[in-house]
Amino acid sequence: MTHPTAHTASSLRDDCFVISRYPCALIDVWRPDTCTALTLRPVLPQDEPLVGSFFASLQPATRYRRFHATVGTLSAERLMQMTRVDYTRHLALVVTTRQASVETVIADARYVVDGSDSSGEFAIVVADRWHGMGIGQRVMQALVAAAADQGLNGLWGDVHESNSPMLALMKRSGFRISTGMAGQGFVRVERSMCPALDPALPLRPPPAARLGRLWALLRPAAPVPGAGLRQVGER
Ligand SMILES: CC(C)(COP(=O)(O)OP(=O)(O)OC[C@H]1O[C@@H](n2cnc3c(N)ncnc32)[C@H](O)[C@@H]1OP(=O)(O)O)[C@@H](O)C(=O)NCCC(=O)NCCS
Repeated sequence: MTHPTAHTASSLRDDCFVISRYPCALIDVWRPDTCTALTLRPVLPQDEPLVGSFFASLQPATRYRRFHATVGTLSAERLMQMTRVDYTRHLALVVTTRQASVETVIADARYVVDGSDSSGEFAIVVADRWHGMGIGQRVMQALVAAAADQGLNGLWGDVHESNSPMLALMKRSGFRISTGMAGQGFVRVERSMCPALDPALPLRPPPAARLGRLWALLRPAAPVPGAGLRQVGER
């Protein structure tokens, strides 16, 4: 499968989209207390409407924390980019629940390999009514394990300093939190895949260069607030 950066949205829609290697090993099913079974799995192209409904269902404040910007409905192009991933440079995991055979997405976590080619920027969001049930931690564990399997040296992200649930989750998931790197009220969270080397994550290009590459991967065609890992320049 060709990397998503090589496609425009229209070519993605027109071409026969072939998944060369669906990472089945990442599928996980568990049953939290007082709840039906939850499934964690890599996203599929046919999840586009489910992922769209998920993001549409989030509280505005939750969407803001996820995208670092005010974001409305995600465009079809953005949803396509978020669900047609290559599982190597862009891995997206969803958690779903099923009631009366209707599947619903309740969490989304993903990373995109950055300009260093050895670490990835990640983002995560859990549906509001499912917060505090350990889903975030479970998904982060899976994302970290998948990144390590993929040979990445580290994962990193920027979190608003007021986002205490996320910072608590980061601490519990073994991420280091450093101030001064992300700037503008944000802190940098990062985790090495090689604890012995920590904190020697590889040097990365400056933020503008990294974000430029990431933005190029996930930017919408129209100036519609969208669904990359963040909205660059709007925070
Ligand atoms: C951050 C987030 C992913 C956590 O998901 P979650 O499934 O609730 O996390 P867990 O249930 O695994 O709990 C992890 C920690 O968060 C704490 N927590 C969860 N919800 C909380 C809340 N509403 N207020 C305070 N703490 C909360 C838990 O108590 C736990 O803390 P601990 O590690 O000190 O015990 C979720 O709150 C979310 O989707 N936030 C909006 C999106 C976002 O902020 N993304 C980060 C930027 S990419």
